[in-house]
Amino acid sequence: MRAWHFIRQFFRHPRQIGTVTQSSRSLAVKIAEEIGPSKEVVEFGAGTGPVTQEILRRLPADGRLTCFEINPEFCRHLQQIGDARLRVINDDAKNCQQYVERADCVVSGLPLALFGRREKQRILDITSKSPTFVQLQYTPVLGRTIKRHFPSVKRKFVARNLPPAFVYVGRHVEQTTTS
Ligand SMILES: C[S@@+](CC[C@H](N)C(=O)[O-])C[C@H]1O[C@@H](n2cnc3c(N)ncnc32)[C@H](O)[C@@H]1O
Repeated sequence: MRAWHFIRQFFRHPRQIGTVTQSSRSLAVKIAEEIGPSKEVVEFGAGTGPVTQEILRRLPADGRLTCFEINPEFCRHLQQIGDARLRVINDDAKNCQQYVERADCVVSGLPLALFGRREKQRILDITSKSPTFVQLQYTPVLGRTIKRHFPSVKRKFVARNLPPAFVYVGRHVEQTTTS
């Protein structure tokens, strides 16, 4: 059902949604596993919540997940998850500054490839205040841009998604463990 709602919203707002289907479970796991031991997580562009739910599975009982989602219909889906650790904010991710300053990790599903240069720059400037930044993308071209904000960047490829996707992970401190 959520998948159907996602497709419908894509046809209404194609540039804002960026892809026709919500993330697969495989992709959501590959993204969420990067939060590590984080307690304060911020998610941009949570959509119908596949990544949100995987983050909540990993978040400690006293953790907090704050989602910024611009689409009010998707916000209603996110609210239905009904988890006390989840805060859903129906707003543009560019207004996230106060939350990112306290975050251990920022996870983003924003279609950055479709954003204007200034808008993308603004989001990356804000997220670079977080120790870890995880970004979903459908093209392999964002690495250099993220590298300007995070000294350590790794890229994972996830074939089991429509379309196949890349997960970029930027960190201020290099981690020795790999997934
Ligand atoms: C590619 S979809 C990803 C959805 C979900 N994270 C997933 O993996 O299935 C992009 C999401 O970003 C949201 N979005 C686009 N621009 C946004 C903005 N400026 N601020 C907050 N959310 C935004 C869209 O409404 C959509 O839900």
